[in-house]
Amino acid sequence: MHIGFIGTGSMGTILIEAFIESGALLPSQIIASNRTREKLSPLLAKYPGINTAANRDVALQADFLFLCVKPLDYRVVLDEIRDCLDDQKLLLSITSSVGVERLESFLTCKVARVIPSITNAALSGATLVTMGRRLQDEDAQALFTLLSAISTPIHIGEAETRISSDIVSCGPAFFSFLLQRFIDSAIQETSLSEGQATEMMTQMIIGMGRLLEDGRFSLPTLQQRVCVPGGVTGVGLRVIDAETKDVFTQTIQATQEKFASDLAEVKASFSK
Ligand SMILES: NC(=O)c1ccc[n+]([C@@H]2O[C@H](COP(=O)([O-])OP(=O)(O)OC[C@H]3O[C@@H](n4cnc5c(N)ncnc54)[C@H](OP(=O)(O)O)[C@@H]3O)[C@@H](O)[C@H]2O)c1
Repeated sequence: MHIGFIGTGSMGTILIEAFIESGALLPSQIIASNRTREKLSPLLAKYPGINTAANRDVALQADFLFLCVKPLDYRVVLDEIRDCLDDQKLLLSITSSVGVERLESFLTCKVARVIPSITNAALSGATLVTMGRRLQDEDAQALFTLLSAISTPIHIGEAETRISSDIVSCGPAFFSFLLQRFIDSAIQETSLSEGQATEMMTQMIIGMGRLLEDGRFSLPTLQQRVCVPGGVTGVGLRVIDAETKDVFTQTIQATQEKFASDLAEVKASFSK
């Protein structure tokens, strides 16, 4: 089986590296293209066995084809490769604003959407999967097996796309921002150095992730366990509770608004 990648920017590269590092794919099973061809060089230097080609050849040779370009570049690439995509091939959108219905109405091949996360670089985190109507059970199973090597694949419906992406894809940025805020305040308010605060925060978040991963705690039971009656944690939690009450409601409303405008732009690009 050959897996194609059109676009080897940030996410295309993360996916290729993760599939190889996990052992799910050999470099020789990968065929990749990028608009600026020189940008393929770092990948080729790291994995000399990767095949590179022009977009149309990638589409012709791939069984599964990840389209890893920005949403407004989808139409341009699809116009170029459309006639290379027969009904045996599976095209994968990796972007929230290009959904399976839009692709199914534009193409005759099988389509699905897989929204990745930077956490997949650590063969961890989730991928968000929406299967198209044309996939056979064996296609869906093969895709799930492939994604399981680098993530926990989670099925989502169209209506949950944005909020799920906020958590899975934007989440690492949102929460590293909050952790950095905590570090900045620690440095400002105390004698802790930035290096010390950063190391402590990093070890704390890794340890917390492991506790959640091995199922010993849920988010609520973690809070209960740390927050002993009359202790310091409760004092801090009360401040955080009061100061952040609607911060995520506002965040979600803002991302939904941006998403609606992105969808309108993508729709316009497909109706030309
Ligand atoms: N970054 C994330 O955390 C994340 C998470 C989930 C989903 N996504 C989705 O992933 C997609 C890509 O995002 P990104 O962050 O990887 O963007 P990026 O770093 O800008 O990569 C896009 C790549 O596509 C290439 N490209 C553009 N037009 C092309 C064409 N006609 N033929 C071949 N290659 C072409 C670009 O080539 P050049 O070198 O010429 O610019 C660039 O390398 C987006 O749709 C985004 O929504 C990203």
